Amino acid sequence: MERKVFLAVCLFSVFTHGLHLPSYIKSCRVRSPDFVKCAIKSAAEALPHIVKGDKTYGIPPLDPLILPAILVSNVGGLNLNLTNVKISGFSNFKLIGGSVDLDKQKILLTSSCPLVDLFFNYSMSGKIVSFPVEGNGKGEIKIERAIYKYGFDFKLEDVGGKKFLRFGKEEFILEPENMTFNLENLFNGDKTLGDQLNKFLNENWKDILVELGPGITEAVGGILKSIVGKFLQKTPINEIFPDF
Ligand SMILES: *[C@@H]1O[C@H](CO)[C@@H](O)[C@H](O)[C@H]1NC(C)=O
Ligand SMILES: *[C@@H]1O[C@H](CO)[C@@H](O)[C@H](O)[C@H]1NC(C)=O
Ligand SMILES: *[C@@H]1O[C@H](CO)[C@@H](O)[C@H](O)[C@H]1NC(C)=O
Repeated sequence: MERKVFLAVCLFSVFTHGLHLPSYIKSCRVRSPDFVKCAIKSAAEALPHIVKGDKTYGIPPLDPLILPAILVSNVGGLNLNLTNVKISGFSNFKLIGGSVDLDKQKILLTSSCPLVDLFFNYSMSGKIVSFPVEGNGKGEIKIERAIYKYGFDFKLEDVGGKKFLRFGKEEFILEPENMTFNLENLFNGDKTLGDQLNKFLNENWKDILVELGPGITEAVGGILKSIVGKFLQKTPINEIFPDF
């Protein structure tokens, strides 16, 4: 009984007052000319803690991040599902720039990562750039030396006298310097055809990224977005930016 009351009080206070910024994230003064510098430093110091996961914020361990399934594409004539997905590399993410426009209510975050490595089981059928493809088995996609840009509009919502960020329109852009694909057991294990397709994918990764773009971008972007969102939307704005 007491436990229930205690839980109810805790939940109530979370809903009305939100969470505090965890001790490993330092807040930055958003109106200061040094804001971007402060945010970059704060992100670099917080990342080793964030990648371990944080139950309070609903963040799972991130390096590696295990996802049961991702639907990458069911458009443009290609049907591609990934299951058993293991993503490694998030520990090496680095916030490298950003901006907060208080008047237009826009936030832009730019980060870089030397390597994000996805291991998975895939199942695919359809066409890639008018090339008939099919297969299922193990696969790997490497996203090498990429810039990840995540911009979003925000609004403020008043909850119990405290202001919280609420995300509006979002945009995520992935700009790798290279991508490599290795899909095993393509075309029912036909090695010649399989090698050809992998070679084709590796040589034409830019076109593939455009074609699979929405899927891969959503997959990787969705993860980054949910992490950023968990901290920014659950904490009162004046704890994130003391001078908001
Ligand atoms: C992908 O998953 C969907 C939903 O589970 C399924 O309908 C579709 O057949 C799958 N595609 C492939 C190529 O396995
Ligand atoms: C993943 O693919 C491998 C190789 O085809 C297979 O042996 C394994 O059972 C698959 N795992 C799952 C969970 O589908
Ligand atoms: C991209 O990766 C391929 C291996 O798939 C390699 O041959 C090529 O040199 C790399 N290109 C760049 C710009 O690093």
